[in-house]
Amino acid sequence: MNDKSILITGAANGIGKTIAEHCSRAGYRVGLLDMNEKALRETASNLANSEVLVADVTRPGEVEAAFDQFGTPDTIVNNAGIVRFGPLIEQSVEDFIQTVNINLIGTYIVSREGAHRMKQAGGGHIINMSSINSRTPGPGAGAYPATKAGVTQMARQLAIELGDANIRVNAIAPGFIDAGMSAPIYEDEKVRNKRAGAVPSGRLGTADDIAAAVLYLDSDAGSYVNGHELVIDGGVVHSLLAQLPRD
Ligand SMILES: NC(=O)c1ccc[n+]([C@@H]2O[C@H](COP(=O)([O-])OP(=O)(O)OC[C@H]3O[C@@H](n4cnc5c(N)ncnc54)[C@H](O)[C@@H]3O)[C@@H](O)[C@H]2O)c1
Repeated sequence: MNDKSILITGAANGIGKTIAEHCSRAGYRVGLLDMNEKALRETASNLANSEVLVADVTRPGEVEAAFDQFGTPDTIVNNAGIVRFGPLIEQSVEDFIQTVNINLIGTYIVSREGAHRMKQAGGGHIINMSSINSRTPGPGAGAYPATKAGVTQMARQLAIELGDANIRVNAIAPGFIDAGMSAPIYEDEKVRNKRAGAVPSGRLGTADDIAAAVLYLDSDAGSYVNGHELVIDGGVVHSLLAQLPRD
């Protein structure tokens, strides 16, 4: 058990909600930040030691108010994110801008506000939720891979700039996760089996796998990990050559 505090964005649903559940069980005081107030209140109603922070990560004033309400957290998880599917040049400019706004600029706005406060408080830890799309593009994934490459690189840059303020910054890159925005894809049994079969570990990932990574990075055991992208994908990003036909 620990007595730390953690602010998680996009905490009303999916992976963020599961991270919040694990952190609550581990003894953290948990700030649940999301723009979906109804889902957020429902999530909070089942979580000990949690606080509802209604805010849109793309709005600096709302983010500032959320930090004012919660106080300076020991840890921030920049998890809010969206995907708008479609080939890049067929995507509307509005969809492209919205994806960049929420995934990349939202991560920046929350990190910026949080890091200033953490500096004052003497330290902290920021974790950006990236994706294996930071390393490999996905057909029809629109602006998403570019934003995820961005949040990983932002974690590295913040790590080198904030080390002397005792602030660590890392990224987590989930692979095929059967939760949240990807859950509808895996409702199709055929797609599910095909995707799981392509993963060296032989299964899809879960939101619990990602929450475990957050707890590890934020633990004493992870205290020397900094500026790192922790890929949690059952080995799938390395499986290109394994997928080639062979005699
Ligand atoms: N599910 C996957 O397979 C997968 C894989 C790799 C990475 N990720 C990443 O994990 C993170 C969580 O994804 P998820 O699958 O749980 O998705 P999700 O759609 O279930 O949850 C995302 C949450 O973010 C919130 N949100 C969206 N825009 C917001 C904004 N402007 N301000 C505040 N909150 C906002 C939504 O209301 C929602 O509660 C995302 O960053 C996503 O890119 C997911």
